[in-house]
Amino acid sequence: MSGPGEVSVSGLLAWAQAELGAHSEARTDAMVLLESLVGISPASVYARPGHALTSCQVLEFKAAIDRRCTGEPVAYIVGERAFHELNLQVDRHVLVPRPETELIVDEVLELAPAEAFTLLDLGVGSGALALAIAHARRDASVTAVDVSIDALAVAAANAAALGINVEFIESNWFADLPVQTFDFIVCNPPYVRSQDPHMQSLQFEPQLALDGGIDGLDSIRAVLADAPGFLRRGGRLLLEHGYDQASAVAGIAAQSGMLVERVLIDLAGHQRVTIMSRTDD
Ligand SMILES: C[S@@+](CC[C@H](N)C(=O)[O-])C[C@H]1O[C@@H](n2cnc3c(N)ncnc32)[C@H](O)[C@@H]1O
Repeated sequence: MSGPGEVSVSGLLAWAQAELGAHSEARTDAMVLLESLVGISPASVYARPGHALTSCQVLEFKAAIDRRCTGEPVAYIVGERAFHELNLQVDRHVLVPRPETELIVDEVLELAPAEAFTLLDLGVGSGALALAIAHARRDASVTAVDVSIDALAVAAANAAALGINVEFIESNWFADLPVQTFDFIVCNPPYVRSQDPHMQSLQFEPQLALDGGIDGLDSIRAVLADAPGFLRRGGRLLLEHGYDQASAVAGIAAQSGMLVERVLIDLAGHQRVTIMSRTDD
């Protein structure tokens, strides 16, 4: 129990929720920060709400809440984010992996043959796609590129920490890749419109990971233009895009020699991932 002048865990959580009021997930955020930074789990909050915290713990937690109040993602404050079956280290050089991107992992694992296959991840960021797939299929030969050397460093550190084998290459999309073809190409490119009002709430994440130009489709055009040359006949390209971009993607694909097979819907009901093959398959 907390004594006079001491701060109880429930008191601190109430303060945090009041501070974070504007955020819809205030309590969840506060609980995650409490567990990760102070080492107190939700179960022990419920079991011992009067537990007194040390002044060090209070200071550390309050500093984290102050950061969250500025809009900084919880993942950057705690330095990690769960993705598929992995826990990935993240920092401001990489996009925080999103749950909808897991659609690509599940679909590749569904489509993948029983025997070994090759896969290219374009714009690897934290390593989310490349590492989740290489983790689930240890026999796959996975190559991952990014134009950001800082993102590549984060992805490579995650690969080393998790003991997963991926080849990392610094490249502007396909430009610096040796000529070759892959069974799968996966890509979650920057696809937010430069003037999209949501950009403001995404200010902590790298512009390079988000900004898709005026119509949000610059990177998608660049990737699709060269994709047929790097996809083996019978191979598949799985591309994430904005909730309202599926038909634009289909148009760009048709002009680039790619054929849309299917569009995957995310948990919010949005068309989120387009699966394509070569038109000359
Ligand atoms: C939306 S993030 C995706 C990160 C990760 N794949 C994920 O799903 O969480 C896009 C990534 O593409 C990278 N990128 C942007 N422009 C690029 C380019 N021209 N060539 C290669 N990668 C690029 C960014 O650095 C960023 O890491």
